[in-house]
Formats: sequence, structure tokens, C-alpha cells
Amino acid sequence: MIDKKIRIYPDPVLRKVAVEVEEIDGYIKELISVMFEVMKAGNGIGLAAPQIGVDKRVIVVSIDEKGFERLALINPVIDYFSDKLSTMEEGCLSVPGIRADVKRPSKIVVSGITRSGRKVSIETGGLLARVIQHEIDHLNGVLFIDKLSEKEKRKISKDLDELVNSQKIGENLT
Ligand code: NI
Repeated sequence: MIDKKIRIYPDPVLRKVAVEVEEIDGYIKELISVMFEVMKAGNGIGLAAPQIGVDKRVIVVSIDEKGFERLALINPVIDYFSDKLSTMEEGCLSVPGIRADVKRPSKIVVSGITRSGRKVSIETGGLLARVIQHEIDHLNGVLFIDKLSEKEKRKISKDLDELVNSQKIGENLT
């Protein structure tokens, strides 16, 4: 059984480097369907396996663009980042209630393996490139709040402290 509970910052599982998937077996297929379900329930547009406590290199993405409504990538690797950067506001199901501007490369080429075991390489920009970079960061224990300018950090610091405190209270209750 795969736990459907979203892990919330500062849960240490969010800081682990996830391990590569060696075989797309029943467990990985189940993991992917649970991830789609959890992402949809949370109204997210992306989710990485560590966010439900699984340290495997698997991400799912769902954006309103043909062919990318239900994309799962196993062992994704970014092969190219553009020099050109763009800024977009990001949020994260593991950092609820907090949004901030993040600067990232505008375009990427990402490769990985789909659910059906097909190797793919996707050249993309805009929202899809943004979400994929955010989710792959999760596989390396990196969160969007790590990538903020000093100004953005200051803007969210109070809310982030409150989130950490609320998680501590939750721990004491269980
Ligand atoms: Ni996230």
C-alpha cells in the first residue's frame, strides 16, 4: 500500500536524494497512479514521489497542453538548460499556502522513461519546463523555497515559520 498523504515541509523525506528506478514493475505503476490521484486531489500540476514519502525518481505532471495532461517520467534527466532565465510564481503541495517568484531557465530538454517503458526526450519551455524543473528538484531534495531571492525569502519568512510551527504541533499530537 502506498500512503496517499502529502508530506509537508519540513518533513525530512523532502530533503532526501531519491534513487533511480531499475525496473518498471507493478509497484512503480501503482506509485504513478497514486501520484496522479494525489496530485489531482490537491489541484496540483506536478508531483514528485518524495512528496508522498517514496524516495524513487518518478514525477508526474498535468498541464492543460496537448499530450501533457497526464505525463509521468521515470528517472528524468535534464540534458539542456537555456541561458535565458524567466521568473514565474511557484507554489508546492508540500509547502502549502506559500507562493513566491522563482527564476529558472526558460527552456529545457528533458529525457526520461514513460509508464510504458518508452524512452522520451522533450524539448519545452513555458509552464511545462517550469513544472518539470520544480519536480526534478524534489528528486534531489531541493524545494522552490531554496531558490528564492533575498527579497522573496523575506516576503515568505513569516508564513514559512508558521508552517514549521504548525507541523511541530501536529507531531506532538501524533
Ligand atoms: Ni513541489
